[in-house]
Amino acid sequence: MGNILIVDDEKSIRITLREFLLNEGHKVTVAEDADTAMKVLENEDIDVVMTDIIMPRVTGVDLLKTLRRASPYVQVIMITGEPTLETATESLRAGAFDYIAKPVTKDLAVKTVSNAMKVKTLGDEKRRLEADNLRHREELETLVKELEAFTYSVSHDLRAPLRHINAFSKILRDKYKERLPDDGTGYLDKIINSASYMQTLIDALLNLSRLGRKELMIRTVELNKIISAVKAELAPDIEGREIEWHIEKIPEVPCDPALMKIVFTNLLSNAVKFTSNSGDQTVITIKPLPDEKPGFMVQDNGVGFNMKYADKLFGVFQRMHRKSAFEGVGVGLATVQRIVARHKGRIYAESEVNKGAIFFIELSQK
Ligand SMILES: Nc1ncnc2c1ncn2[C@@H]1O[C@H](COP(=O)(O)OP(=O)(O)O)[C@@H](O)[C@H]1O
Ligand SMILES: [Mg+2]
Repeated sequence: MGNILIVDDEKSIRITLREFLLNEGHKVTVAEDADTAMKVLENEDIDVVMTDIIMPRVTGVDLLKTLRRASPYVQVIMITGEPTLETATESLRAGAFDYIAKPVTKDLAVKTVSNAMKVKTLGDEKRRLEADNLRHREELETLVKELEAFTYSVSHDLRAPLRHINAFSKILRDKYKERLPDDGTGYLDKIINSASYMQTLIDALLNLSRLGRKELMIRTVELNKIISAVKAELAPDIEGREIEWHIEKIPEVPCDPALMKIVFTNLLSNAVKFTSNSGDQTVITIKPLPDEKPGFMVQDNGVGFNMKYADKLFGVFQRMHRKSAFEGVGVGLATVQRIVARHKGRIYAESEVNKGAIFFIELSQK
């Protein structure tokens, strides 16, 4: 049940309407003019206001306009003496929920208030969910930051002992080569290789955790310039290969250019890598998102992946292809996702095995 305010200079109407609504279980307050009504609204949590259109001094429509600014979520029902199309249109345009004509019947008053209450309640619920949502997002962002700080300190501290393992294994292998049996040297080689790989993984983690600490430097960026620069840097990787690039103009969007460069470096190097042994003519397309959404998509015609594992795609160290087939450590897409999240955007992918992959990057307009 709602908290209803009735505003009318005619006492008989205030009394009748109040009676109708009290019977329905609403809490009802009355006011005889707009000034009194505004005072009530300041002090009480009113859901619905029913106001006369024509009152001395301040009219109902003016009250409605003031009220829209002061309490935008209150629903307003106008009560009109002669329901002309003009007053009705003016009220609705000024943000009234509905209007009813005098003499007000019980059925119509009760029904209109009940509808206005439904809209008010739904609006309240929606705003509550939005506030919850925002709070959860902020909590999540804090957790991610804590996790990043943890990752940073752990990976940072792991580097020194790992360097020792690597260095002393090498000394052992080189200095005592003659005294070691062949399989002993073989084991040491394995230790050294594993330690080097672990170093690569730790460095990747360290870079990933640094992303969250960096202040975003948002400006309007011509993404096509970044794409050209990244493409030029990939030249050594694509030497001897013939790649058909289709690069369309991406609309400018506010973002951090340095981080966007990391995004394109990862997406384009993946596109180049996962098309390298498909046998077909390689085609890589970069174009804007449909429906003028800010962002872009990167498509290739390479080996693709099984969508069954799509949720793993952006996880740290998660890879869908064997290291023997395609080199990599599996932090590229995790990095891209982190950057896109920091831009309040979203990344997702579509693919089919041997039919290429498309990565969609939505960026926020703000
Ligand atoms: N364009 C692509 N086509 C097919 N699979 C891809 C593509 N991009 C990424 N993947 C899959 O997602 C995994 C994670 O990508 P990424 O984090 O960049 O790691 P990496 O490139 O080191 O393997 C890749 O190992 C691969 O299995
Ligand atoms: Mg990669």
